[in-house]
Amino acid sequence: MGQPTPARTATRTRATDRDWWRDAVIYQVYVRSFADGDGDGTGDLAGVRSRLPYLAQLGVDALWFNPWYPSPMKDGGYDVADYRGIDPAFGTLAEAEKLIAEARELGIRTIVDIVPNHVSDRHPWFRAAVAAGPGSPERELFHFRPGRGAHGELPPNDWPSQFVGSTEPVWTRLPDGEWYLHLFTPEQPDLNWAHPVVRQEHEDILRFWFERGVAGVRIDSAALLAKDPALPDLAAGPDPHPFVDRDELHDVYRAWRRVADAYDGVFVGEVWLPDPERFARYLRPDELHTAFNFSFLSCPWDAGRLRGSIDSTLAEHAPVGAPATWVLCNHDVTRTVTRYGRADTGFDFATKAFGTPADLALGTRRARAAALLSLALPGAVYLYQGEELGLPEADVPVDRLHDPMYFRSGGADPGRDGCRVPLPWTADAPHAGFGSGEEPWLPQPVGWGAYAVDRQQHDADSLLTLYRRAIAARPAFGTGPLTWLPAPEGVLAFTRGRDESRTDAICVLNLAATPTELPPHTGLLLTSGPLDDTGRLPRDTAAWLTP
Ligand code: NOJ
Repeated sequence: MGQPTPARTATRTRATDRDWWRDAVIYQVYVRSFADGDGDGTGDLAGVRSRLPYLAQLGVDALWFNPWYPSPMKDGGYDVADYRGIDPAFGTLAEAEKLIAEARELGIRTIVDIVPNHVSDRHPWFRAAVAAGPGSPERELFHFRPGRGAHGELPPNDWPSQFVGSTEPVWTRLPDGEWYLHLFTPEQPDLNWAHPVVRQEHEDILRFWFERGVAGVRIDSAALLAKDPALPDLAAGPDPHPFVDRDELHDVYRAWRRVADAYDGVFVGEVWLPDPERFARYLRPDELHTAFNFSFLSCPWDAGRLRGSIDSTLAEHAPVGAPATWVLCNHDVTRTVTRYGRADTGFDFATKAFGTPADLALGTRRARAAALLSLALPGAVYLYQGEELGLPEADVPVDRLHDPMYFRSGGADPGRDGCRVPLPWTADAPHAGFGSGEEPWLPQPVGWGAYAVDRQQHDADSLLTLYRRAIAARPAFGTGPLTWLPAPEGVLAFTRGRDESRTDAICVLNLAATPTELPPHTGLLLTSGPLDDTGRLPRDTAAWLTP
């Protein structure tokens, strides 16, 4: 630790600047919890603008903003009431435009989050549909159906909630007797993607944001939009699946790609699919540019499993020519240092529980090594705010929880608030420097200030310093493919280079119980922790070497 790193001058051999997304480092901003500029306890665009120098110094290429639109916040903004505005708690559209431009001046692109599967129940379309009544054209934009049972008192089908662990139905009945479909909360009615107006509207929304200078769009729940119009019961075993990964979706994304291409815009899809071949279909050259790699995120801390995940990721992307993405965390999952400090180091929505013990020192050591692993792999890397500070999952008191996942599981699932707690910027300031006014919307745990940016930024051994150095040194790996090196059991070692014929840097990660010798090298670029007295790489530690 603490070695000097090369300045970010090493050349990458990107074909053109238009290919920036193929190997970008993309920082995820959950605006509500990033920085509170106006002191009302909620993060906002003013807060983000004031911290752009921090993000530039970190060295990221782009920011992905979770939904920032007007929203009743029944699902953290994934219940959108107006796709062309900014929630007043966050700022104004003019301010978003300024932010996009200011970031771009610092070399940082912007990615917005579009939520096409559902809208808020406060969206004008849904309000009109409710008011217009059964049989109206307004209701055709959604999935309204009569109920089953003698009096229509039973939901129209047996589909399960897409909030894993939810015990609640995906249908809600209106006073006029009709039911409407919502794969998430009742405040998030699903749109009918068989309707041309729905398709047209979303293409217009994409244009709206591309016109404002955004470089990319993250697509929420990207594999769920299309529904079998017969809405058959799942118990009947319908094939294809009535609402997951239906073939009609590919037409939707081909049309979106035509819109994006006019602006050099790029997509990243939220596609949770176990089948690699089905996943890769979304990444064909005329569809989405990239999709999140949830198999890597969910993978346990185990050499064989990680290598398998890396190999299968690269193999599934190769035939379609799309770059992989490497994701360790986001606003939906247990924070990395907590996950890696548990007995079960994988991630699974179905097994989340209150009170799971975690060894945070162990988890942090592994998270440091995982940072060097993911930043050395070929493709784009996503970094969730606070991951660079090593924030653990916070224990939010149950009476302060907001997340519908908690409420819709009857209180069994802890929900996702623990990874959404406002960031600590200044250790000794009120609210750890998140904002200088009211209490943050989610409480920060005692001791949160210890993770603050001001504590870490001049500390050569901090995780923030490691991330800064690694992002700066990362071009050493070039843009060439990965080649595995022979390594002892439990150790992963690979090389990459500027092109296929060169080896410019080596990454080694030791997941075995004992220290391991480093492979032959001429220089040490960076390590995630100290080497032992004999220069060996200890357990749960990674190193970047020059050959
Ligand atoms: C995925 C988002 O990441 C999550 O936060 C949200 O609850 C669901 N989609 C529904 O929009």
